[in-house]
Amino acid sequence: MSKKKFVVRQKYDATAERYDDRYVTIQQRKYREVFSKFNIEKAEIILDIGAGTGLLLDSFPHLTNTIFCCDFSMNMLKMGKEKHKNGYFICADSEKLPFREVVADIVTCFSVLQNIPNPEIALTEFHSVLKNNETLILTALQKTFSEDMLKKLTQKCGFEIKRIWSLTYEDSVVIAVKREKN
Ligand SMILES: C[S@@+](CC[C@H](N)C(=O)[O-])C[C@H]1O[C@@H](n2cnc3c(N)ncnc32)[C@H](O)[C@@H]1O
Repeated sequence: MSKKKFVVRQKYDATAERYDDRYVTIQQRKYREVFSKFNIEKAEIILDIGAGTGLLLDSFPHLTNTIFCCDFSMNMLKMGKEKHKNGYFICADSEKLPFREVVADIVTCFSVLQNIPNPEIALTEFHSVLKNNETLILTALQKTFSEDMLKKLTQKCGFEIKRIWSLTYEDSVVIAVKREKN
């Protein structure tokens, strides 16, 4: 594991118990804005990458069998598992996902990209686990990823942009669809 990843994981492991208190309001605001424009209710398998303590699942508790929370911080995952005893919490690095190809109907990744040393590798992973023509929802801190950077990165990794905009707080968001690479 690279030094950057190690440090990021240590930070989240060390602060996991306080994460929800600090960020629940901010993250829920992001989910509300995004999911007012996109309906995830009909998907069978949603991979939430960098899911942390499962705040996304908190917002959709009836989707416990649908949302698979993936994160590389065990302590973040443990916090999530305490809230959702029947939830799926999977320890996984976003750059090397432990799934067979084309398994997901939707991949979500909220506020993680700025932590990832090589976002292109991660997006290539997201592309390989998504079914064709299905949707990636990706947000990243605006101060690290402008809309233009997000656009170029997603297109380069084989996605077609459907919508891209800046949320009212912190993040840029892109909703994109997987296309077959040439
Ligand atoms: C700002 S939190 C966002 C958590 C969650 N998506 C949310 O909306 O609350 C970033 C999360 O990404 C995870 N993360 C960072 N880099 C990762 C990587 N390379 N692989 C998997 N998870 C990663 C961290 O452990 C942390 O839980």
